[in-house]
Amino acid sequence: MDYFHYKNGIYHAEDVPLPKIAEAVGTPFYCYSSATFTRHFNVLKEAFAAIPTTICYAVKANSNLAVLKLLAGLGAGADTVSEGEIRRAVAAGIPVEKVVFSGVGKTRDEMRYALSLPISQFNVESLEELEQLNEVAASMGVIAPVAVRVNPDVVANTHEKITTGRKEDKFGIPYDMAPSVYARAAELPHIKVQGITTHIGSQLTSLEPFRKAFQRVVSLVEQLKAAGHAIEVVDLGGGLGIPYAEEAPPSPAEYAQMIIKEIQHLGCRLELEPGRVIAGNAGILVSSLLYMKRTPHREFAVIDAAMNDLMRPAMYGSHHNIFPVQEGKPMQKADIVGPVCETSDVFTKQADIPDLKPDDLVAIRSAGAYGAVMSGTYNTRLLIPEVLVEGDKFAVIRPRQTYEELLGLDQFADWQ
Ligand code: LLP
Repeated sequence: MDYFHYKNGIYHAEDVPLPKIAEAVGTPFYCYSSATFTRHFNVLKEAFAAIPTTICYAVKANSNLAVLKLLAGLGAGADTVSEGEIRRAVAAGIPVEKVVFSGVGKTRDEMRYALSLPISQFNVESLEELEQLNEVAASMGVIAPVAVRVNPDVVANTHEKITTGRKEDKFGIPYDMAPSVYARAAELPHIKVQGITTHIGSQLTSLEPFRKAFQRVVSLVEQLKAAGHAIEVVDLGGGLGIPYAEEAPPSPAEYAQMIIKEIQHLGCRLELEPGRVIAGNAGILVSSLLYMKRTPHREFAVIDAAMNDLMRPAMYGSHHNIFPVQEGKPMQKADIVGPVCETSDVFTKQADIPDLKPDDLVAIRSAGAYGAVMSGTYNTRLLIPEVLVEGDKFAVIRPRQTYEELLGLDQFADWQ
């Protein structure tokens, strides 16, 4: 459930009509709803109230500092994958004791930075990383708290590019290798193993792959405990899907019941790393029509947002519902496309879309996760603003980039 809706025929974010924001900041822009973020976070938190749980929001989904501050205020921790993300989490007030550091490729500098804070957990993805972390921690005279990321080799039934838990994927330690990695970790003086972690993919719309993976993790925990390893934390990653269109993913309550049933007997603290389920439907991308291009073969609605602003359709062929900001326009069949010089710069093909006039606004839904964070400046297009709404207030939480800022990133070589 979200707080984007029509009121008096105009699409609103909470109590703010979108044309009001468009007038203030221009288009295109991202617009986030505080009430939706809050609701999504709290629903998830309440679903897990029966067992000790830390919700480490996956910062990669939407890393704007104002969004992180909102979630910090609700009690969120952070799942991070780079020094940059750790810095964002800390700058937004997320306590370091709730920051975990995931990712297959951590540099020595990143390890040193994370150990200096110190964060609560490194989710280690290889034996090589474990050895290096031990060396870095030794050089600082500290001990690194570790959870080993296990690859359970299950098929997640989601998009190929966001599947992470099969043995041919680069993520985690192969299931059968895990006991030997725990044994090695126990020998390393600057490593303290405290847990286990897994993450099998993103935008999962059924519970079964999760259940299968978590059952494998639980049996590994039992085996590891029997071998004398102290497993206090079970981190089950993120991945719960959201409705973009017709999908009907499990509810947070169903997801929670399944997890609690599988892991409760272990007596461990649970960590989760949800991103999309919190942020996805808490944001939209608002764009305006440049022109309806009509050819004998096709109608194209050319809008001012493009694949550099929202990459998901071009990268994954993903669908986002698109609504006219003014309700009740007659419908027609057309493609909605952006101005970038790539055939893949298409938001939707041959869809029933409203008959728009130049400057009419459209809302591209479900753009709160993996939207702004994946945007770029291809075609020398400026990064677009992000706006946060709360009730009848709105604030720019990232201004539109300027041409001076963008061109100022380059410099001439000294011989030029
Ligand atoms: N934990 C780890 C270790 C992850 O790799 C991810 C996502 C998450 C948690 C959060 O997953 P979520 O709850 O958001 O599904 N750009 C793609 C999604 C990439 C997901 C990468 N990892 C997209 O736009 O669909």
